[in-house]
Amino acid sequence: MRKNIVAGNWKMNKTLQEGLALATELDEALKGTTPNCDVVIGTPFIHLASVAAAIDTTKIGVAAQNCADKESGAYTGEISAAMVKSTGAAYVILGHSERREYYHETSEILNSKVALALANGLTPIYCCGEALDIRNANTQNAFVQTQLEETVFNLSTEDFKKIVIAYEPIWAIGTGVTASTEQAQEMLAFIRSIIAAKFGKDVADSTSILYGGSCNAKNAPELFAQPDIDGGLIGGASLKVADFKAIIDAF
Ligand code: PGA
Repeated sequence: MRKNIVAGNWKMNKTLQEGLALATELDEALKGTTPNCDVVIGTPFIHLASVAAAIDTTKIGVAAQNCADKESGAYTGEISAAMVKSTGAAYVILGHSERREYYHETSEILNSKVALALANGLTPIYCCGEALDIRNANTQNAFVQTQLEETVFNLSTEDFKKIVIAYEPIWAIGTGVTASTEQAQEMLAFIRSIIAAKFGKDVADSTSILYGGSCNAKNAPELFAQPDIDGGLIGGASLKVADFKAIIDAF
C-alpha cells in the first residue's frame, strides 16, 4: 500500500542555527512515538548535512527543495543531485510553483532534474498545481494533466513508482486559503485516475499523492481522512514544531 507522508517545506527560512534547533526539536518531539506517516523536512541546501547528522534520519527524512538540472561542472552556484544525496538527504522537492514562477523552471528543465534525482537515489516530491485564473476558468484538471504529461508521465513505470506527487494549487499557497476538502480530494482522485490510465491501477494505488497549500493543524484531519489524500506538503506550518507535530498527528 502507499505511504502517508507529511513533508515540511521550510522554503527560504531559518539560519543554519535556527534550522538545526527546529530539526532537533522535532526529533525530540518524535522520540518514543511511532507516527502513522513518514515525516520529511525540506530544508535549505546549506542546512542539509548538519540537519541530517543531528537527527534520526530513519524517522525524519531530509529533503532538498531543489537540485540542478546538470550533473556537474561549470555551473556556478548550482547544487547537484549527487551533492544533495551526499549530505544524507533522501528526498528532493522538484517543480514547486515558486521555482516554476520565479526561476522559470520549464518542463524540460524539470525532466532533467527528476532524471538526475532518480539517478542519484533521491525520491522526488514532484509538485503540480494551477493558478487562480485557471481554477476560475474550471480548466484545472487539463492544466495539471499537461504538467504531468510533459514531465513525470514520461518516466518508465519503474521510475514513476519511485516518485511522490504533491498537488499544490497556487492560490492556496501561503495565502491562508486552503482548497476545500472536496476540491483537494477531487483533484487528487483525478490525478490518481490519470496515473492509472498511464501506468496501470496498481501503480496508481501505490503512488503517494500529497496536498499542499495552507494545510495546518486545524484542516489536516479532514484533508487526511479523504481516500486519495496521502498527506501534505506543508510550508508555513512546518516552521513551528507544535504545528507540524499536530499535522503529523492528524494521521
Ligand atoms: P503553505 O506552503 O503551507 O505555506 O501554503 C505550502 C508549499 O508551498 O509547499
